[in-house]
Amino acid sequence: MLDYPRFYPDQVIPPDRFGDRTEHLRQIEYTLRAIQEGRPRGAMICGERGIGKTSLLNKAESMCLERKILPLHIALHEFEEVREFYDTIFEEVGSALKSIGLWEKFRVAVGEFEKGWDYVVRLQKRPRTLQAEVHERLSLLLDKMTRRGHQSLVFFLDESDGLKAHVTGLQILRNVWTSLTQSGHRLGFFFAGSENLVESLGRYSPLKRHCIPVHLKRFKMLECVEVMAKLEEGAAHKLTPLVRSRIAELSGGYPHYLHVLGSHAVEAMKKGEQDVWAEAFKSYLFETNAYEAVITRAAHVSETQQRILAHMDFLGPTTPKNIAQESGVSQDTIPAQLQRLIQAGIVRKAGRGKYEIADRDLAEYIRISLGGKSA
Ligand SMILES: Nc1ncnc2c1ncn2[C@@H]1O[C@H](COP(=O)(O)OP(=O)(O)OP(=O)(O)O)[C@@H](O)[C@H]1O
Ligand SMILES: [Mg+2]
Repeated sequence: MLDYPRFYPDQVIPPDRFGDRTEHLRQIEYTLRAIQEGRPRGAMICGERGIGKTSLLNKAESMCLERKILPLHIALHEFEEVREFYDTIFEEVGSALKSIGLWEKFRVAVGEFEKGWDYVVRLQKRPRTLQAEVHERLSLLLDKMTRRGHQSLVFFLDESDGLKAHVTGLQILRNVWTSLTQSGHRLGFFFAGSENLVESLGRYSPLKRHCIPVHLKRFKMLECVEVMAKLEEGAAHKLTPLVRSRIAELSGGYPHYLHVLGSHAVEAMKKGEQDVWAEAFKSYLFETNAYEAVITRAAHVSETQQRILAHMDFLGPTTPKNIAQESGVSQDTIPAQLQRLIQAGIVRKAGRGKYEIADRDLAEYIRISLGGKSA
């Protein structure tokens, strides 16, 4: 069976397939090193929807394990009270402690540890402030960890936007963080959220001082092509450079689109389509109603060109003169504009001085969007 390139639409990208982002990974390396050296450091990863925040967090987590840093990942969905936020953290701390315990028991069984160690976590039940409780639980975890060979702990808080409404909660976090690092523990926090995360978290608490901002942007075209090459690794049946660059162009650098377009192209290839470019992309774009927007952007169809297209005869070849009469675009400019549409594969020459629409679907979309009747 042929091995086809794999894309990951609607999935967080696995760390081993993570493409590019060299500069951001360098910032993360730098932050992890600072945490290991005992400074209270972290990062605020921000960017628009679907830009790759969770994927970058996962990548950073995999980098932690290589460095004997324990990563705890928590996705923060809406919560009403600060208490809920910390309960989520406590749950995670609890299960980390439990897994450290299991691991120890295993090592005791193989004779690596002395008996008599305390594996059970006992928390005092008397009431105290939330800050004290957070402090106690975290230092318990950190103590256990360091005794057992993990040097540092990093929290990965995905979907952090909801935090900004909980000023006290953030201050507790910051205070505990500072005091634990002062007493020699190595603790860091990575937040991920929307584009204004840095501003919203930084304004309400001094967290900003501890965290570097990591702004994720859309890929540049060349980076898109590299990302795809990485995704295709190991696939016997690769996408041609032309198809790859068309996918890159159409995606507009948006990682999500790279995967969706790529996987549609692969599906079409599996069905034996020859012209993957035309068929697979079109069907996907129609499904998502994005055909016109994406094609016109990729082909750089200007407004004038759109007007020309919308007023060409839908059923047969047209002359520039007719187009000028219908569209009101000056006849002098029409041949040059048509030339560009020909280069983009949208119009084709049909005999002497005559032109016809090659891409009927696009013409139809434009006709409708300009308020015209459908053909
Ligand atoms: N570095 C990358 N290389 C290749 N693909 C990527 C990369 N980063 C993200 N993607 C792809 O982009 C899409 C969105 O990624 P992800 O879920 O990480 O984004 P997000 O910013 O967390 O989104 P949301 O705002 O919905 O939480 C996924 O399909 C993923 O596979
Ligand atoms: Mg996400």
